[in-house]
Amino acid sequence: MRQKDIIILAIESSCDDTSAAVLKNNTILSNLIARQEIHELYGGVVPELASRAHQQNIIPVVDAAIKKAGIKKEEIDAIAFTRGPGLMGSLVVGTSFAKAFAMAMQIPMLDVNHMVGHVLAHFIEDGKPMPKFPFLCLTVSGGHTQIVLVEDYLKLKVIGTTIDDAAGEAFDKAAKMLGFPYPGGPFIDKHAQHGNPLKFEFSKPNIPEYNFSFSGLKTSILYFIQKQVKENPHFIQENLDDLCASIQKSIIDILLKKILKATKELNINQVAIAGGVSANSGLRAALQQLGIEKKWETYIPKFEYCTDNAAMIAITGKYMFEKGLFADQYITASARFPMNDLAF
Ligand code: KG4
Ligand code: ZN
Repeated sequence: MRQKDIIILAIESSCDDTSAAVLKNNTILSNLIARQEIHELYGGVVPELASRAHQQNIIPVVDAAIKKAGIKKEEIDAIAFTRGPGLMGSLVVGTSFAKAFAMAMQIPMLDVNHMVGHVLAHFIEDGKPMPKFPFLCLTVSGGHTQIVLVEDYLKLKVIGTTIDDAAGEAFDKAAKMLGFPYPGGPFIDKHAQHGNPLKFEFSKPNIPEYNFSFSGLKTSILYFIQKQVKENPHFIQENLDDLCASIQKSIIDILLKKILKATKELNINQVAIAGGVSANSGLRAALQQLGIEKKWETYIPKFEYCTDNAAMIAITGKYMFEKGLFADQYITASARFPMNDLAF
């Protein structure tokens, strides 16, 4: 007998984008994102403005996602939402919406960890091969930088993390020094494609185990730029592409050094990347190249599943649904919500 289809509506509202997706089994029927451009004016996400915008966007985005999926809301089996980590005011909007929707429709709720979502985005059916267990996932975003050992869909362990800034933050802060708007990561990526990555060299961290640090690099870039601009006020404009390429290379080198160490010591040749920074074309190319050299199987998500999106929350919700891991109406958003504390 054919198994019944599982249809999940998912909400992601951990930071500044409001996203809703509809998933049928492992296939995404819709995945819509309302971006908040307002933060560009402030050079970073303003939490108060983010929660207000979520409140305005959530109903229209969910409505549009259901319409685009071509389903009726009565067909939805469960609602998945991001419980954390993220900005409290933003998370509360998604969590409260999920509670109200679950109660109105008499369906269960699934409280998803955002960082697990980034990793499990690899299991969305989109024609690409999926990682085999166990695999290592380098999850790099604006708020996190982690090496995750993934033994099963819901068996994940963070084995390395940043002791200061996240990789995305390093991109965004360096971009700010160069005069780009927030978030600057994609601008560095674009300019780096025309620059020489070996033109400038910045300090490299020496951090034990599988952990990362980016604050030394940030300071080294800042001091270097300040010194050069003092001598030549047009230094940045004249060297923009080379600066971007060199900064990007430094960040990628830091990331890949630790993933290389982990693959060797844990004897794992399945390597994935996830999170907003995995959209970086330099990181994607460097991982693929290293994968060929080291005979790894590498997994790089589609662009739309790299940065924050509700599709990744939906797929994670599906695995939780199959295990009956439901939340109740007493659930609260959790700004920290460490992955290693999950009770799966
Ligand atoms: O995963 P994400 O969308 O949100 C968080 O959970 O933080 O990641 C956002 C981060 C930002 O720091 C942004 O600059 C960075 O991902 N990012 C990039 C690129 N696209 C997004 N960094 C470098 N190159 C890119 N192409
Ligand atoms: Zn994220």
